[in-house]
Amino acid sequence: MRISIINGPNLNLTGQREPEIYGTQSLESYQRLLTVAFPEMEFTFFQSNIEGNIIDEIHRAGQEADAIVINAGAYSHYSLAIADALRAVAIPAVEVHMSNVYEREPERHHSAIAPACVGVIAGFGLDSYRLAIEALDSMHNA
Ligand code: DQA
Repeated sequence: MRISIINGPNLNLTGQREPEIYGTQSLESYQRLLTVAFPEMEFTFFQSNIEGNIIDEIHRAGQEADAIVINAGAYSHYSLAIADALRAVAIPAVEVHMSNVYEREPERHHSAIAPACVGVIAGFGLDSYRLAIEALDSMHNA
């Protein structure tokens, strides 16, 4: 199974920024662990701070992957363009957040992209990504 892991703004600083919320592990080192934990999966890892680049990557994944795991960072809360891109591709996507956005500020309680996803996983730190992969794998094999 080919899974495209897409990360949005500021997630390149995971491990350094607001460690009390997002922990101290870097995204790169966690992604290396994922490739070890799921040797049968073909992952592509993408991160951008630019909305249009994220949209281009969703389009690319629509052609070349079987599923998407997306943490669109703050764009999750208001980007109709990213939601439209997820709807424009035929493959399923899971929205992930490291933090439990529902226990944070009210403006983080809304997701513009959740209606375009098959499910949402939030609040388990970087492990949210593994849970999303497991969920997509089960769906794929059902
Ligand atoms: C986040 C939650 C967002 O509200 C925030 O803007 C982020 C990270 C998370 O993974 O918890 O950048 O997506």
